Amino acid sequence: MVIFMKPGQLCIIAEEYKNDLFRELAYLGLTRINATNLTVWVQEDRVEPAWAQSVWRNVQSVEVESIGDAQRKLKAISNSWRYHGDLFARRGALIAEGLNLAKPSRPFRFPSRGEKNPPPVFTLAEPGLILYSQDIRRPTYDGKVTFFEDKITAPSRAYLKLWEALTILGAWPRGDEKVVDLGSSPGSWSWALAELGVSVLSIDRSPLSEKLQKYKNIEFTAGDAFSFKPQPMDWVFSDVICYPDKLLEYLRIWLESGHCQKFVCSVKFAGAPDHPIVDQFRKLPHSRILHLSCNKNELTWISHPKL
Ligand SMILES: C[S@@+](CC[C@H](N)C(=O)[O-])C[C@H]1O[C@@H](n2cnc3c(N)ncnc32)[C@H](O)[C@@H]1O
Repeated sequence: MVIFMKPGQLCIIAEEYKNDLFRELAYLGLTRINATNLTVWVQEDRVEPAWAQSVWRNVQSVEVESIGDAQRKLKAISNSWRYHGDLFARRGALIAEGLNLAKPSRPFRFPSRGEKNPPPVFTLAEPGLILYSQDIRRPTYDGKVTFFEDKITAPSRAYLKLWEALTILGAWPRGDEKVVDLGSSPGSWSWALAELGVSVLSIDRSPLSEKLQKYKNIEFTAGDAFSFKPQPMDWVFSDVICYPDKLLEYLRIWLESGHCQKFVCSVKFAGAPDHPIVDQFRKLPHSRILHLSCNKNELTWISHPKL
């Protein structure tokens, strides 16, 4: 039996990025209690690993003697649950059968703040040990996020990671806000932002898709994104392909200028991720750096005063 000293965190593994997550945990000095192919249970929750697909924070444990005992104890905690099948999945499913299970999350229609009051989720660490959490700072407990997609106007599917980032944040550009989209071609982020009704300054060396010509609130400038100097701006978005240290240096100039407080930026890796630099992004004020379900070999850095 594992003795669980204090609430930890349970990371849901994105299969392709399992090694990146394990190396990151080692870099961060986070002690693994147990790992399966689907989850890794970590002793401390002082820092959020970026390469997890989702993280259950403030994980609590309950010792149970039988399936009936588990059902009684879980019902006493919440009248609705979700179950994440992993270790001892048959036993977990039998426990879940006796509970009021919430419906699975459905595709989100952007803009969305995600599910209202999601129930807690549980899994089994041992036949007699349940782990559960209600502190999941992603739109779904397993981090998988799907949207009703636009298959007509968006020039590519890259807007999905922007939608996911803004859904996680629970905030998006609105009203008369002005935003800049750096590295914007062919233009699906600019499209998604223009659809929100805000003024979009879109910058790339390559042109935008002709499909976007009808958007009068997109102003395109051809050129180098990094020559765009800090100036009063409500949001800065960047999907520029560049080395992470170049982006970090550029963002520091923005942060020092005080001209903008809201950012969503892709941090891309040419090969293996650079964990020290990821940690530098994580330590920037009011921010998180995450691997989104719509990300490939990249992370998304989000900064907002509410974080
Ligand atoms: C992944 S694509 C962006 C996709 C875009 N977000 C979308 O939704 O369509 C990366 C873009 O970065 C641009 N890029 C790379 N370096 C740049 C630079 N220094 N200045 C401007 N654009 C740059 C490339 O031309 C490319 O269009």
